[in-house]
Amino acid sequence: MAGRLFKKSIIVTGAGSGLGRSSAIRLGEEGAHVLCVDINPDTAKETSELILSAGGASTFYQADMCSEPEIIEMVKQAVDSTGGIYGLLANAGIAGTGAAHETSLSDWNNLMDVSLTGKWLCAKHVLPHMMAQKFGNIIFQSSICALNGFPKLVAYTAAKGAIAAMTRQMATDYADYNIRVNAIAPGTIETELVRQTYKQRLDHAHSDITVDESLAQTASRYPLGRLGQEVDISNMAAFLFSEESGWMTGTVIPVDGGYTAK
Ligand SMILES: NC(=O)c1ccc[n+]([C@@H]2O[C@H](COP(=O)([O-])OP(=O)(O)OC[C@H]3O[C@@H](n4cnc5c(N)ncnc54)[C@H](O)[C@@H]3O)[C@@H](O)[C@H]2O)c1
Repeated sequence: MAGRLFKKSIIVTGAGSGLGRSSAIRLGEEGAHVLCVDINPDTAKETSELILSAGGASTFYQADMCSEPEIIEMVKQAVDSTGGIYGLLANAGIAGTGAAHETSLSDWNNLMDVSLTGKWLCAKHVLPHMMAQKFGNIIFQSSICALNGFPKLVAYTAAKGAIAAMTRQMATDYADYNIRVNAIAPGTIETELVRQTYKQRLDHAHSDITVDESLAQTASRYPLGRLGQEVDISNMAAFLFSEESGWMTGTVIPVDGGYTAK
């Protein structure tokens, strides 16, 4: 399949659902060879099959972002199957609600392991390949939580803020190797993770309103009057992986219907 990313090898983590799945499919439409990675092998396989059935190129791999050996093997699979590695979309993450005084150390550590440390480990192990080939493109999935305060999300917000800082930091370390590092900061997009977050919050508050009603209230707070759609984020991922964004590195880009502009 020809496109802006023809024959480029790209790893997408958390590719079994939501933003990871939609981005993997979009990158496949742009001609990339997408390694769909998820802790859930069935959903990773499904995404990979969706890319293949649309005429694209893809393989899948099961890896837990908390396991460095599995991440090392994931990178090896990508390099072995395509002979190099063009890009990494470090996207896998989990939900986690709670204010600072309500959050347990184990919940904090679990969220950090998956959503922050896992992203750093993916970058750590693709970078030697990218440095050797003097080219690479890394995208981290951050959040508008890195830019604004949101109630009762201390661990999630801390992880997303650290991802934004890591993006700027890594961009400076690897620019000499022609490696770009950017982050996407999505606003609210209705995925499994968001529904879970809303349910946890509403249960905690013993609220009578439903997840759908609460999401509708959130939508009304967005200047563009709606929640985001997965395609809003996958379009940004395709742009950041393409040469059209060739002078962009170290940026944390809100894709948020104007929320952070308020
Ligand atoms: N949906 C939103 O509104 C939104 C907004 C801002 C940022 N984000 C971020 O986007 C990313 C994707 O979120 P989503 O909304 O698509 O969620 P999702 O729950 O639909 O998908 C997350 C995927 O990550 C996988 N995953 C979870 N733990 C893993 C692990 N340990 N190892 C490997 N894979 C694992 C899950 O199996 C799932 O397929 C997350 O980093 C999230 O924080 C989402």
